[in-house]
This record gives sequence, structure tokens and C-alpha cells, in this order.
Amino acid sequence: MTETTVAKPLLATVLGERQARPPMWIMRQAGRYLPEYRELRTKAKTFLDLCYTPELAIEVTMQPLRRFDLDAAILFSDILVIPDALGQTVRFVTGEGPRLEPITPEGIDRLALDEVVPRLTPVLETLKGVKAALAPDKTLIGFCGSPWTVATYMIGGKGSPDQAAARLFALRELEAFARLMDVLVAASIEYLVAQFRAGADVVQLFESWALNLDEVAFAANVIEPNRRIVEGVRAQIPNAPIIGFPRGAAAMLPAYAAATKVNLIGLDYASPISVADTLPSGLGVQGNLDPLRLVAGGAQMERRAEEIIEGFSNRPHVFNLGHGIVPETPIDHVARLVDLVKGR
Ligand code: CP3
Repeated sequence: MTETTVAKPLLATVLGERQARPPMWIMRQAGRYLPEYRELRTKAKTFLDLCYTPELAIEVTMQPLRRFDLDAAILFSDILVIPDALGQTVRFVTGEGPRLEPITPEGIDRLALDEVVPRLTPVLETLKGVKAALAPDKTLIGFCGSPWTVATYMIGGKGSPDQAAARLFALRELEAFARLMDVLVAASIEYLVAQFRAGADVVQLFESWALNLDEVAFAANVIEPNRRIVEGVRAQIPNAPIIGFPRGAAAMLPAYAAATKVNLIGLDYASPISVADTLPSGLGVQGNLDPLRLVAGGAQMERRAEEIIEGFSNRPHVFNLGHGIVPETPIDHVARLVDLVKGR
């Protein structure tokens, strides 16, 4: 480990070193709950333009760190830049969320794997710019969506409560689905390797839609693709630090951790603290405050945050929410939470 690595408490925790107070970041920490984000958002025509304009994306990435004493910056981008770079039509409709032209078995053949890293050059430029602007004790987090989660949007064309379109596609179109997952695994490996080379200290695999899968589908669609990504990235970046966030994995967590070999496991807010006891001792966790507790604030938030810090005090712990911060979150509640986690 180099000097600079040791000096970053969050990175050190991901690498297995427990800190006296847990370092913290907040999932989706740059975004609409910040007035300065809403203001800057108006400077880009579309959300994807914002992601692809390094000058603006660097500023958005830095915004939450200017306000709060967070231990990491997370690259400002989106998980759906991969389908966009592969050539699928991706739009973000204000107030509704992402809309994609649903992929067909024939469309999968036309996905342009070779184009992914070249088309995502602006995102890599953002990482370089953030790295240059970031204090040396702050960790820079890169990310991508995990293949199953990205595939649910590519197949369904939008978010859905049960991912039924993708689950059916996976069961009916075995060969086409396998090809799609292969493309996404390969694209994710290249993209994450490029992120490390552009300055990311650690990357997170967002498997936001790991829930709603039976155990066979979970093993095939979540565990195996994430395992291949970790293996593929580490073949090029030895010992690359990787956080896995398989939201809703529940009883499948130990199998996910053992097979993927991620350094740290992100726990969603529905996971009881005791779920950590099902993981090997010494394996670190991240989480897992309910984002709505942060919206409501006050004594209930403080009590639960203390329980989480105490509950994970026997292993490396990165404090975070159990899912992304929501736009309704009052900024003073975030400030209070950061103070509490920092022991102030
Ligand atoms: O954490 C950060 O601050 C970095 C930026 C980031 C965004 N999206 C910015 C964003 C990250 C890490 C993501 C990940 C992401 N994107 C996930 C996984 C995490 C999770 O919450 O489960 C998913 C499923 C997406 C796909 C996506 N992007 C959806 C469903 C939406 C619409 C819903 C929403 O929150 O608006 C987006 C849009 C999006 N991505 C916004 C931001 C700030 C809002 C769009 C806007 O400001 O116009």
C-alpha cells in the first residue's frame, strides 16, 4: 500500500482496515436535494449532456463535499451511460425517469462493444478533473450498474416495480439473454478498468434490482456476472478495491460475497444489522440507514444511526444510507447526520 492509500480513511476501510469512526459517503450524494445542483442542472439541455460535459460534471461531483465533511466523492454520471454508449436510445424524461427503446434479440447483435470506452471518454475526463481537485484524504469512487440491473432497463425500457419484462426475457430468450449479459460484463470490465486508470480509487457495482429473483436466477443473473466483472477488472488492475451493492440479496448475501470476492458489501436498509453475522468476520460492510429516516430527521434518525455504528463496530464499516438519498431530503438533516457519524 502506498502512502497516499493509507491517508484515505474510506479507501483504507474498503481494504479491510477498521477506523475508530466510520468514514462516510451518501449514495446519490450529488443531486436534486441540493439547490446548487438544481441551479447547475439548468445549464445542460439534457441529463445525459450534464453527464457528458466534464466541466459541469466535475462541479456537480464536488458540490456535496463543499457542503459536508464527506470522506469520498462519487463520480457524477449514471448507470445508463453504458446502454447509451452501446448505441441503444436512452432518454431521461424529467419527473418520470429513464426511457429506453426496449432491446430485441436482433438489437443485441447491433450493440457496439468497441464504442463503449471511446464514447465514455468525457466521463473519464470528469474523473481526472475530480481527482485533481480532490483533497488527498478523500477517496474517489467510480461506479457502474451491474449487468442484471442495467439489463432490466434495456429490456423493459424503463424502471418497473417487479422487473417482469427482464425476468421473462431471461427465461424465454435464453440465448439472446446470455449474449446481452456477455456484452454487459465485457463493457463493464473495460469501463471500470478505464475508470481506475483515470483516477478512481475504488468502484461500486450498483445491483439495485437484485431483489425479485429466485435463488437460481439470482445465482445466474447477479452472482455470476458480478463475479466475472470483479475477476476481469482485477486481471488488469491487481487487487482493485470493489464495493458490491446487491440490493435485496437478503439470504443470498453470503453466497454473493464468497463468489464475487468484493472487498466491501453494501447493505440495503431492509437488511437487519445481524445480517452481517452471516458474512465472514473481517469482511467490511457499508450502510445502511433508511433514506426516509434522513428525510424525517430528528431523534429517530439519530437513534438508528447510532445503532448502525454500534452494530457494525466489530468489522470494517463505511457509513452510508441503505439506498440513494431522495430529493425531498432537508439539507440540515444531512448536516446533522454527518456531524453525528463524525462524533460531533
Ligand atoms: O451518487 C451520485 O451522486 C452519483 C450519481 C448517480 C446518479 N445515478 C445520478 C442521477 C449515480 C451513482 C446513479 C446510479 C443509478 N442510476 C442507479 C443505481 C442507484 C440506485 O439508486 O438504485 C440507478 C437505478 C440509476 C438509473 C436512474 N437514473 C434512474 C432510475 C433515474 C431517475 C430517478 C431519479 O432519481 O430521478 C436516474 C436519473 C438520475 N441519475 C438523476 C441523478 C442526479 C436525476 C436526474 C436529474 O437530475 O435530472
